[in-house]
Amino acid sequence: MSKLKIAVQKSGRLNEDSMKILKAIGISIDNGKDQLKASARNFPLEVFYLRNGDIPQYLRDGVVDAAIIGENVLIEKGNDLNIVERLGFSKCRVSIAVPKSSDAKSIKDLEGKRIATSYPNTVNQFLEKAGIKANLHIINGSVEIAPNIGLADAVCDIVSSGSTLFKNGLKEIDKLLNSEAVLATSPRISDDNQALIDKIQFRLKSVLRGRE
Ligand code: PRP
Ligand code: MG
Repeated sequence: MSKLKIAVQKSGRLNEDSMKILKAIGISIDNGKDQLKASARNFPLEVFYLRNGDIPQYLRDGVVDAAIIGENVLIEKGNDLNIVERLGFSKCRVSIAVPKSSDAKSIKDLEGKRIATSYPNTVNQFLEKAGIKANLHIINGSVEIAPNIGLADAVCDIVSSGSTLFKNGLKEIDKLLNSEAVLATSPRISDDNQALIDKIQFRLKSVLRGRE
């Protein structure tokens, strides 16, 4: 029998709620915490614990059939991939922020400025739409420190509670997009595994309806 391979964030903010929602739809995972792969006891499914940023490529290549992933990561790295269901958790936004003392009020005020971000494709799209040319500095974490160390005039990163911005003396001036966890599938998924996804989706819909 075929088994569905589903990617879940290895560690980080999505991991816990991703495992919780699998549990909520009646799938119990044998969890050796340190393993990169685990099997479900009562559903033909294997979970692969992967790095967020790697998941879109694994989906595209068909290495995994599906993933629970932040929509912001899909927009940045996988705009060609199919979203099956929005999962209602890990809600956040991708926003531009500047030092509190800055006069900039929106992305339109960033002409010629340096923007630090882990989301270059997303920022570039919005810069283009606004007709603004800025210089991107791509960093993979702790982006909000960049203005304080003189590396950038602005940042673009995920905002959830806003506490990271606050602690770094930054203010949000423009929201590029909203994001939440989604279930996405590979374009190369087999018919058998698509049928398993359909089952999972059916269960998800009833759990999500109950949460409304
Ligand atoms: C994420 C994100 C923001 C912060 C937003 O960083 O990159 O910095 O969370 O959350 P908040 O608005 O609730 O403060 P994370 O702590 O995951 O670390 P990283 O940037 O080093 O990956
Ligand atoms: Mg951060």
